Order: sequence, then structure tokens, then C-alpha cells
Amino acid sequence: MAARKIIIDTDPGQDDAVAILLALGSLEEVEVLGITAVAGNVPLPLTAKNARIVCELAGRPDVPVYAGCDAPLMRKLVTAEHVHGKTGLDGPAMPDPVTELQPEHAVDFIIETLRQEAAGTVTLCPLGPLTNIATAFQRAPDIIEKVQEIVLMGGAYFEVGNITPAAEFNIYVDPEAADIVLKSGARIVMMPLDVTHRALTTAPRVEAFRALGTEPGRMVAEWTDFFERFDKEKYGSQGAPLHDPCVIAYLIRPDLFEGRFINVEVETQSPLTLGMTVADYWRVTDRPANALFMQQIDAEAFFALLAERIARL
Ligand code: RIB
Ligand code: CA
Repeated sequence: MAARKIIIDTDPGQDDAVAILLALGSLEEVEVLGITAVAGNVPLPLTAKNARIVCELAGRPDVPVYAGCDAPLMRKLVTAEHVHGKTGLDGPAMPDPVTELQPEHAVDFIIETLRQEAAGTVTLCPLGPLTNIATAFQRAPDIIEKVQEIVLMGGAYFEVGNITPAAEFNIYVDPEAADIVLKSGARIVMMPLDVTHRALTTAPRVEAFRALGTEPGRMVAEWTDFFERFDKEKYGSQGAPLHDPCVIAYLIRPDLFEGRFINVEVETQSPLTLGMTVADYWRVTDRPANALFMQQIDAEAFFALLAERIARL
């Protein structure tokens, strides 16, 4: 079966970085057409730099990286240095990238790629705030029906929020963008905190990365050593949720996940619950289903897949 063509839209972020490595280590299943950076965990100049650092770490300086939107559609940017560190990839020392950013804006790249590739053959994989995707849909509504699927990390329901009591970070940063994407009519698969919080970086799983004895393996272990301190302290858990790689793992092994096709909408008005994803999990309304909202993951198989694919880099 031909590899699935994807665009990774991302705000690296250590977990974004692991997701990119997983994609680049899975050439039979995934063809990365390009990586589009968005402001999120850290400001855009850093997410655009970090995306190139990760591609070079994977030995793939050929993967084109585009800088996208540097702020949400209508709000001031909220970042997460408290989780990811000042650089966004704190943990190990990382060399500056040598590859240049592509001159084209990320939103133009998304629009042109969807217009040029055969309809239904490109999957969008947003791992950060949905600003780039929503801007592309607003500027070129014709591309929406050309999208094969949007597989995104974002939202929360039973797990509630991580940046506020009600909201998950990616959605909270740009709720208007999330609203546009959720109402777009595109096929959507959501990896909310409900499922990512079941993919914890326990010590044996982190040691499996370190034991690979490769630079990518060492980096993944040291990124995890850094960014898991926040979640372990907050949740008292045996490790941190490895959020973004769930998106790429779904493309490779959808059988590792379980969820429900339901209606999911986002709060864009209330200061108290801004960015909350209201998932009609028990179908108590007649609101039309618009997203496959994941709840379960085979965590052991997920981490085994991660280690096996990152070992290939
Ligand atoms: O809430 C988790 C999400 O926010 C992840 O994508 C993480 O990288 C941050 O962007
Ligand atoms: Ca992210």
C-alpha cells in the first residue's frame, strides 16, 4: 500500500519532536510532504527552528519546513515555556539548524499542496494550535473537500483541561481556529488528553529509547527527562503523557486506538471555559457527529512502535 501523504503542522515542543521522528522513521506508511510551524509551545521563530533541528537529527534535512502564523486568529499568543523550557526543546544541548526555512508561508504551502495533489490523498496532522489550518480553510475553502483526513492532537473531555481547568492547550491557544476546523466538514480524528494521558513515559519506556544507543534515541530520552517533570509533579503520575506521537501512531497502527464518532464543539466565548471541547460522548443531543474522539490506546504497543521506528533513524 502506498505511503500516506501528510503535512505535519507543529509547535515543537519535545512531544512534537518525537512525533516528527516517528513519522520520519516510518517511510513505508508515511510520506511527509512538508512540516509547517505554528506559534504555540514557544513563539514561531523557535518552533520553525526546532522543526528543522528535528529533521536534521533524523538525517532528513531535505524535508521542507515552512513558517506559518505567529499568533492566534483573534487572541494574544499563550505559550508553554513552563512545560517545554525556553527553547521549546529543553533537555539535551541541540545544535542550531543548518537548513534554511522555505521562503513560502506555511498557509500558502498547505493551500497549494492540497490544490496540486489528487483530492483525498493528503492528511493534515496538526500537533499544535490550529491557526495555520483554520487560516488556510478561511483563505481557500475549496481545499477543505480535498483533505483526506485531519488527525489532530487536541481537546479533552473526561480528562478535563491541562492549561485551564476546562481546556487543553492546543485548543485553548486558538479556540476560534479550532471552531473553524471542527465545523469545516472535513473528516476529523481527535487525540484528546483522554487518550494521551494513557500514554505515559514510564521509566522502562524512557530507558528503551536511551538503550537504542543512537543520537535520536538519546535525544528522545533526554527530552522526556526534561518535560515529564511538569506532568509528574502536577498529576503525581509515573511519567508524562506523550501527546503528539499518538497522531502519527494512528496513521501507522489505527488498531492501537479506540474511540467514538461524536459531536465535538468548542467554547469560544466564556472566560471561564474558553477552549473547552464539549464532546457529546453519550449522544444526548442531536448535534451531528463530526469527529472520531479517541479514548483508549494500547500503550505498550505504542511505545514499542515508537522505539522500533526511532531505532531506524
Ligand atoms: O496539550 C498538549 C499539547 O500542547 C501538545 O501538542 C503539546 O506539544 C502542546 O502543544
Ligand atoms: Ca504540540
